Amino acid sequence: MDKFIVEGGHKLSGNVTISGAKNAALAIIPSVLLAQGTFRFSNIPNIRDIWTLSRLLHSMGIHSELNNDELFVDSTGINSTEAPYEHVKKMRASINVLGPLVARHGHAKVSLPGGCSFGPRPVDLHLKGLEKLGATITLDSGYILAESKRLQGAKFHFDISSVGASENVISAAVLAKGSSLLTNVAVEPEVTALCKLLVKMGAKINGIGTTTLEIEGVDTLHAVDEVNIPDRIEAATFLIIGAMTKSTITVEKTNAYHLTAVIQALEESGAEVDVTGENITISMDKAPEPVNVATAVYPGFPTDVQAQWAAYMMMTQHGNSRVTDNIYKSRFLYVPELHRLGADIEVIDNTAIINSGATLKAATVMSSDLRASASLILAALVAEGKTEILRVYHLDRGYENLEKKLSNLGASVKRIKTEEY
Ligand code: EPZ
Repeated sequence: MDKFIVEGGHKLSGNVTISGAKNAALAIIPSVLLAQGTFRFSNIPNIRDIWTLSRLLHSMGIHSELNNDELFVDSTGINSTEAPYEHVKKMRASINVLGPLVARHGHAKVSLPGGCSFGPRPVDLHLKGLEKLGATITLDSGYILAESKRLQGAKFHFDISSVGASENVISAAVLAKGSSLLTNVAVEPEVTALCKLLVKMGAKINGIGTTTLEIEGVDTLHAVDEVNIPDRIEAATFLIIGAMTKSTITVEKTNAYHLTAVIQALEESGAEVDVTGENITISMDKAPEPVNVATAVYPGFPTDVQAQWAAYMMMTQHGNSRVTDNIYKSRFLYVPELHRLGADIEVIDNTAIINSGATLKAATVMSSDLRASASLILAALVAEGKTEILRVYHLDRGYENLEKKLSNLGASVKRIKTEEY
C-alpha cells in the first residue's frame, strides 16, 4: 500500500486540469448493459474505481479498454449477469449494474455491497424501486437475486433522495413496458448525465434535471459515444487547496454551475473566486473567516466536500466553524487523523466543531476513505514538516494523478511505492 510524503508550507501557483467525474462515469458506464454494441466514453478518469468497474464488466464477458481518457466498451460478448462479491466489495457503485441487467437480461445476481468506513449505506430504495417495476427480488447468502420477464412501468416515490437508487431505477424504467413516474429523484449532475446518455441511446425521459421524471419505456436502446462531465468534487478539492495554502491557482476544464454552494462558501471565507468559462481561479492571501456549512442533496453543499472544508477551517484565526453532515451522519473518521496533525476539532453528533488557531505539525496519518484522505492531504500541505499519509489507495480510487497535479502546482508530494517500505 503506497504512501505519500507531503512537505507543508509551500505556496502554490499555476493551473490544474480537472479530470472527468468519477461518480458520473460510474453512473453512465453500466448503461452498456442496456444495449448491444461498442460505446466510446470520453473524459473518463484513469482511477482505481474505473479499473474495478472494468474488471467487473470483464467478468461478465464485456471487453473494455481505456486509452488516455477514452474508454471503449464492447457489450456484445456478455455471458454472465452476475456481479460477484470480490468486485462489489471493492466498490459499492458496482450495484449500478443491477437495474440494467434485470431490465435487459431479465435476471441479475449482484452481491450486496458491504458497509463502508463512514457507516451503513443501505440499498433498500434500489430494491423497492425495482420491485415496483415488477422485478422479483430475493436476498440469498449476501446476494441480491432479481428476476423479471419484462419490467412494467410504474409510479415510484423515493422516500430519501438517493443518487445510486435513482440511477438504478431510471436505468431499469427506460426498458420497462409502459410509462413510469418517478418522484423525489436525485438531481445531482451525475444523475442528469445518466439521463442525457440514456436519451441519446434512444430512451424517452421527460423532466431531466428535476426531481420528477416521466419515462416512456422502449423496446431497445443502441450504443453511443458520450463525453463525461468534469469532476465537481475534484474541482472543489483543488479550489480549497488554493485557498488553504494562501495561493492563486486556476482549475481548468470544470463546470462552475456544479459548484455554486462551494464557491459561495469560499467567497464567504474571504477567498476571491473568478469564473471564466470552464476555468475557475481562486486567490487567497490571508487566514479564512470561519464559515459554517451543512451538507445537503444537490445543489446543496456536497457531503463529498465536508472533510476538505473541515480541514480548511483549521486555518481560521478567530472563532470556530461547524461542519454538519446531514447525508452521512458519521462521516468524520478523518477527525482523529487531523488531531494527530494538531487540529482542534470536536465531533458532536453529525457536526464537527473546528476551533481556530491550530498549529499544524507533521505526523504519520492513515487514510480511511476517499474524501477523508483528501482532507489529510490538505492538512499536510500546510503542516510544518513532512507528513506521511498511509494507504493512499483510497485516494487513488477517486483522484487521478493527484501527486503529479499537486507537484505541478509547486507542492512537495512524493509517492513511496509499497515495495520501497
Ligand atoms: C453517491 O453515493 C456517491 N457515490 C457518493 O460519493 C456520495 O457521497 C453520495 O452519492 C451522496 O451524494 C457515487 O456516485 C458512486 P445516496 P450513493 O444513495 O448513491 C441513503 C465518493 O466519495 N440511502 O445518494 O451510495 C444513504 O444511506 C462517494 O465519491 C438509503 O437509505 O449515495 C444516504 O444516507 C462516497 N437507502 C443517503 O441515502 C438506499 O437505498 C444518500 O445516499 C440508498 C441510499
